[in-house]
Parts: sequence; structure tokens; C-alpha cells
Amino acid sequence: MTQDARRQAPAAARNRDPILAVLREALPPSGLVLELASGTGEHAVHFAKALPGVLWQPSDPDAGARESIAAWREAEALPNLLPPLALDAAAQSWPVAAADAIVCINMIHISPWESTEGLMAGAGRLLAPGHPLVLYGPYRRAGHPIEPGNQAFDEDLKRRDPRWGLRFLEEVSACALEQGLVLERFVEMPANNLTVIFRKR
Ligand SMILES: C[S@@+](CC[C@H](N)C(=O)[O-])C[C@H]1O[C@@H](n2cnc3c(N)ncnc32)[C@H](O)[C@@H]1O
Repeated sequence: MTQDARRQAPAAARNRDPILAVLREALPPSGLVLELASGTGEHAVHFAKALPGVLWQPSDPDAGARESIAAWREAEALPNLLPPLALDAAAQSWPVAAADAIVCINMIHISPWESTEGLMAGAGRLLAPGHPLVLYGPYRRAGHPIEPGNQAFDEDLKRRDPRWGLRFLEEVSACALEQGLVLERFVEMPANNLTVIFRKR
């Protein structure tokens, strides 16, 4: 593994500190945090560094993403950052039996709806009562006009794959509730994104 595999996403550098501020309030002070759709691995490194009390478990179904996460991990040598797992949210079983929290950033709108259903089913299985699922990304909201930037993003996503697109927070919350995950609150974030916190009942 060489450090050359490290990928960078400009958005991750912009959103990581606002997300971290919410994670500090939502996550338990210790235990295993399972991150789905870790992508480049930049969030995993940033959050593991900032939250030394938790053990951060990154994952992604994409092999190139896992190489990038592994390369960031090797470069930063953080004691609380585990090697990335191959994990597809839509899969019936996941390679982790339990987690104290689950974090998923920017996946729900860039994957088919089955990934959200799988994410909620997995979170329902892995989380003990009172433990959080934290999501971040752009959402539509009933009775709330979509922002022009998010409208253009939604159209672009659907052009790339008709199964993709911004989801309604109400539909994501209903899907979560079917798995015993109750919407606790959402936080308005820069650039018309939301951080959404669910808790296992
Ligand atoms: C836009 S990237 C976001 C990456 C990172 N979380 C970030 O915000 O920089 C979307 C990620 O979702 C992952 N992904 C897509 N479908 C998935 C699924 N079914 N389960 C888990 N991850 C998935 C992709 O491999 C990709 O890494």
C-alpha cells in the first residue's frame, strides 16, 4: 500500500468540521463507531483524530475507496482507526455484529433506495437501545421549497442514474422508524445540507 492511493474530496474538507461539531454532541464518548460509505477516508481520519475516545471503523463497498481509506490510515497512524471493511449497506448481512453508533455521510442520495432500506435495517440490527445513527447530506422536506442548488444537484444525480436523487427527510424517517430508529433531531448545515440524528428505541 502506498500513500499515492489517498484520494481527496474537496467537499470533505469543507464539511468535516461542521459535521464534527454535531458528532461531538450525538456520539457516545467511547465505543465502536461504524462509518458507512467512507469514500476517500478523509472523514474517518479527521473524526478519529478529533474523537480519541472512540474506535472508528470505516467501510465502503468500493475497492478503490478502501485503498484510499487504508492509505490515509497508514499515513496518519491513528491508534483508534481500524482498517476499512467491505460493506454494502444494501446487503442482507454486514461484517460487523454490533456498533455503539453508525455514521453515514453523503450516501443516501447517491445510491438506489435499497441502500437506505439496507442502512436502516442494518442500523436496527446493530444498535442497542439509545444508540445513534447519524446521517449527513442534502434532503428534500415536505412543505419546504427545494433550494435552487439542491434542485440542480437532484437533476444532475438523476441524469447520472435515475435511481439516485435527493430523498424526502419524511420518507427516510419513516423507513428508519420501521426498524425502531426514531428521528431525534436534525441540524441545518452549510450549503443546504442536514445532519440527521436517529436513535434506536
Ligand atoms: C459521494 S461518496 C461520499 C463519500 C464520503 N462519505 C464523503 O462524504 O466524502 C458516496 C459513497 O457511497 C458509497 N456507496 C454507494 N453505495 C453504497 C452502498 N450500497 N453501501 C455503502 N456505501 C455505498 C460509494 O462507494 C461512495 O464511497
